[in-house]
Amino acid sequence: MIKPHGSDTLNPLYVADDAKRAALEAEAANLKSIVVCSQAAANAVMMGSGYFNPLTGFMNLADSMSVAEKMVTTDGLFWPVPIVNVVEDASGIEPGMRIALKDPNVDGNPVLAIQTVEAVETATDEQMAFMTDKVYRTDDMNHPGVKAFNTVGKTFISGPIQVLNYSYFANEFPETFRTAMEIRELIAKNGWNKVVAFQTRNPMHRAHEELVRMAMDRENADGAVIHMLLGKLKPGDIPADVRDAAIRKMAELYFPPNSVEITGYGYDMLYAGPREGVLHAVFRQNMGATHLIVGRDHAGVGDYYGGFDAQAIFHDEVPDGALEIGIFEADHTAYSRELGEVIMMREAPEGHKKESFVFLSGTKVREMLSNGEDLPPEFARPEVAKILMGFYQSQK
Ligand code: ADX
Repeated sequence: MIKPHGSDTLNPLYVADDAKRAALEAEAANLKSIVVCSQAAANAVMMGSGYFNPLTGFMNLADSMSVAEKMVTTDGLFWPVPIVNVVEDASGIEPGMRIALKDPNVDGNPVLAIQTVEAVETATDEQMAFMTDKVYRTDDMNHPGVKAFNTVGKTFISGPIQVLNYSYFANEFPETFRTAMEIRELIAKNGWNKVVAFQTRNPMHRAHEELVRMAMDRENADGAVIHMLLGKLKPGDIPADVRDAAIRKMAELYFPPNSVEITGYGYDMLYAGPREGVLHAVFRQNMGATHLIVGRDHAGVGDYYGGFDAQAIFHDEVPDGALEIGIFEADHTAYSRELGEVIMMREAPEGHKKESFVFLSGTKVREMLSNGEDLPPEFARPEVAKILMGFYQSQK
C-alpha cells in the first residue's frame, strides 16, 4: 500500500491503549486546562486519527511561518498549512507544562487531548498577515477561513499532543467517521491497490458522481473512497447528516456494489483553495489512497481563487517527490443536453454549444429546493434531490 506521508508507518496520536488513556484522563483532571478554538480541536482530531502523519503536535511560530511561506517545516518536512493551537490568552501557561485541551464543540467541554507545552509565542500583526496572505491568498475578513484564523488570538502554544477521543465525530457519525488507520484497513480488506479519493463538502450531484466514475475508469482504479468533511462549514452549506444520506443513496443506486466506500473525516473547512487542496492530498495519502480528484474550484469559496488554481499548485509549487499520491485533474464537468451525458467541458466535441450544458449555482439550487421546485434530473439524481428537498422543506 502507498506509504504514509513523512514516515514508513502511520503514527496516529490517539492513545489507543485503554489503561494508558484512562491514566491520561485522570492526569488531565488535575492539569491546567484551556478550551481551544474549533480549528485547533479539529487539528487534534486529525492528528489523533492519523491523517496528519507525521506531525506529533502543534507547530511553533517558526514552523508555522516556514510552512506558510514555502510549505516546509524548519526540519524540512513538506507540509502545506500551519497546524496550530492559537489562543487569545495563554497566561499561566509556560514551556514544560502539561495542559489539558478542552473541546469547544462538545457540551461540558470534555478534555480532547493533553499537550506538553514546548513554547508559548505571540505572533506580531505582520506575522499573522504574512501567514494569512500565504495560506489564503487574501486578507479579506469576509473569507470564512481568513476570519476563523484571525479571530481566535495570536498566541501559539506549540508542542506534542496525546489525543484522548475523536470529539463529536465518532458519536455523531458512527457509520461515516473513519480514521486513516481504519480506511487503510478497509482498503486492505477490499484488496484494492489503486484507490481514488473524492473530497467533498457537498451532496453529490451528477457531475460529482461522474467525476468519481471517470477517475476510476481512467486511473484503472480498484475502488473509490468518498471522503466527506464532517466538521464545521460556513452558513448555507448543507449539514453533514443530510449530505451523508444523499451520498449513500447515490452510491447505493448508481455504483456497482463494493466499489465505493462512503467515509468522512473530522475537520473544519478552511476554504483555502490551493493550499487546502495540497493538505487534502497529504491526508488522502495517509489514508492509503493513490489518487485524489481535484476538480474545479477545489476547496474554494466565493471568487477568491481561479477555477483551477488548486491543480496549478501541484505543478508550480509542490516539489517533485514531495508526495506519492497522484492528482486526477478534472475539468469543469456538467451534463450536456446535446450529448445526453455528463462530460468534462474540455472534452466536448467540436461545435458543441456551451448553452447545452446544464449549470446550476449553489444559490440557485438552494432557492429551488426552498421553493419546493424539483431539481432537473440532468443536474441531480431524483433520489438525491428528494433527500435535499426534505431538508430544505424542514427548515421552513
Ligand atoms: S470542496 O470544497 O470540497 O472541494 P465540492 O464538494 O463541491 O467542494 O467538490 C468536491 C470536488 O469536486 C472538488 O475536487 C471539486 O473541484 C470537484 N467539483 C465539484 N463540482 C465540479 C464540477 N462541476 N466540475 C469539476 N469539478 C467539480
